[in-house]
Amino acid sequence: MSATVPPRDRLHRARVLIVGDAMLDRYWFGAVDRISPEAPVPVVRIEREEERLGGAANVAMNVKALGAQATLLTVVGEDEPARTLRRLLHGHGIATLLGTDPNLYTIVKLRVIGRAQQLIRVDFENQPDHEVLAAMLEDYERVLPDHDAVLFSDYGKGGLEHIPRMIDLARRAGKPVLVDPKGSDYSRYAGSTVITPNRAELAQVIGRWPSEAQLHERAQRLRAEHRLDGLLLTRSEEGMSLFDAAGHAQVPANAREVFDVTGAGDTVIATMAVMLACGLGLREAMPIANRAGGIVVGKFGTATVSYDELVA
Ligand SMILES: Nc1ncnc2c1ncn2[C@@H]1O[C@H](COP(=O)(O)OP(=O)(O)OP(=O)(O)O)[C@@H](O)[C@H]1O
Ligand SMILES: [Mg+2]
Repeated sequence: MSATVPPRDRLHRARVLIVGDAMLDRYWFGAVDRISPEAPVPVVRIEREEERLGGAANVAMNVKALGAQATLLTVVGEDEPARTLRRLLHGHGIATLLGTDPNLYTIVKLRVIGRAQQLIRVDFENQPDHEVLAAMLEDYERVLPDHDAVLFSDYGKGGLEHIPRMIDLARRAGKPVLVDPKGSDYSRYAGSTVITPNRAELAQVIGRWPSEAQLHERAQRLRAEHRLDGLLLTRSEEGMSLFDAAGHAQVPANAREVFDVTGAGDTVIATMAVMLACGLGLREAMPIANRAGGIVVGKFGTATVSYDELVA
């Protein structure tokens, strides 16, 4: 199945508001020469550092890479990672609305790599403050009219406390709403245009399906229960399935080579959001997003797809 990608200038005018849990992926590469005299652990002498945008920030980067406009609304701490995150986001041309919580650790996933193997991963994260999140709801209302679609990237870190209200506001304003869900309570996503779980995420909610027929029945029931226009199931090497009011549509995966599957889900929802922001319907957007997913899994290092790659 193929669909036509709108012209470049149409994408350039499309504005997507991304709300969710932003993260900084940090990699420390070093040499291991000895065991610590303090404890039976290796001592790593750091030689090189790498930083990448993760979570909702990676989704925003994917929106921007396609040539659309991206605004990221998220909560951060008052720490060095917050400054790094802001610098990286602005370097990519992403507009930011960063709520600041002085007691919050900006989310960092730090990997220490020595002798070409990951020795440890260190996570910095805690729950954001209620009042800071409430103030961000006001920012959201203020900037909503300037956007054509709203994308919620839920990594379950607590930044989306007000998501039901935010969805409601967006739909009342006639904006399509996309959600990358987390957890087992999808009632908080009620009224969305489309949610994009992967297989494991959906199984957590409707149970593992013994057959395609069972999947269809349960997916449609879930869709009706939460008043979702569409449920887009991303199925890795099986492509994707869309459940909507008209029934079911499916596209096979179209990756030529698979090198790195991490972040494919972020690319898929970012592409869906840009297409809906351009006025496409779910059935038109799905094969384009599937193509983007197929391209990104074939790449090393970069987790984004450009407009040129998408139309090639
Ligand atoms: N192994 C694969 N072969 C071909 N295409 C793939 C493969 N893995 C992913 N894709 C493409 O990327 C899309 C999204 O992948 P997937 O369902 O794995 O999302 P995800 O689990 O949310 O990814 P992640 O959470 O790692 O970002 C798929 O629908 C498909 O288009
Ligand atoms: Mg995912």
